[in-house]
Amino acid sequence: MAKKTILDFQNMVSKGEKIVYLTAYDYLTAKMQEKAGVDMILVGDSLGMVSLGYDTTFPVTMDDMIRHCQAVRRGAPNTFIIGDMPYMSYQASDVSAIENAGRFIKEAASDCVKLEGGGAQILNRIQAISGAGILVMGHIGLTPQFMGQIGGYKAQGKTAQAAMSLIRQAKLIEEAGACSILVEGVPTAVGKAIAEQAGIPILGIGAGSFTHGQLLIYADMVGFYDNFTPKFVKKYANIGETLTNAFREYTMEVREGQFPVDTEHTYKMDEKEIAELEK
Ligand code: KIV
Ligand code: NA
Repeated sequence: MAKKTILDFQNMVSKGEKIVYLTAYDYLTAKMQEKAGVDMILVGDSLGMVSLGYDTTFPVTMDDMIRHCQAVRRGAPNTFIIGDMPYMSYQASDVSAIENAGRFIKEAASDCVKLEGGGAQILNRIQAISGAGILVMGHIGLTPQFMGQIGGYKAQGKTAQAAMSLIRQAKLIEEAGACSILVEGVPTAVGKAIAEQAGIPILGIGAGSFTHGQLLIYADMVGFYDNFTPKFVKKYANIGETLTNAFREYTMEVREGQFPVDTEHTYKMDEKEIAELEK
């Protein structure tokens, strides 16, 4: 199937078709997601927690992101890929934001970049990156790069005032030139209000069923990442348990001399060669 563009996503929204969005961090996972027909892949800075073993997303670097975006692109050559701008790759200035966004396009063939927040400074960054011809996805609500200010991993927009503030942020992000917005960890009513007022596709993660599309962190929804699981995650598989059992069985079989014993998993000498040697 041909790679979807931002125009396809706008069409899907106008026809009421849901956009399917998952994270991936490596070649094999991306390959499976493309095969499964996922519409867009986020190489999230959740990479830091899922693949690199950090407690937060803060230590993730631009080089980490580029390396993993390249791998995901190799696995999913025909899927729309969003590169997540890591902490401090866009906060300091418009120039650094444009340069780092450009790296996702030039070095990793990404289609879009994503950055967090809806404050005045972030609106400038969105305008700057979009002005450089790069598609930008906004990200509001429970934004992990603002964890210190949010005070933990908590749903946002639960009061009328907080909800109004998020709805306003979404409008401003759209006006600043974003092609889409990801809304994370908000009540269903807030996700719905944002989607209804938007002129661009609104994707949700933990934002209810009324957003134009749904995102999950792939490692959560297949039961791979087990440090914690947010309320909004539905588990579609238990890969962690499957892998652990396979590793355990292999460990046992090697120790007990049960692997490899069968001809299926071993090589034999060339028969003719042996006959020659025996002459
Ligand atoms: O990094 C990521 O995977 C994300 C999602 C959690 C929204 O930004
Ligand atoms: Na992220």
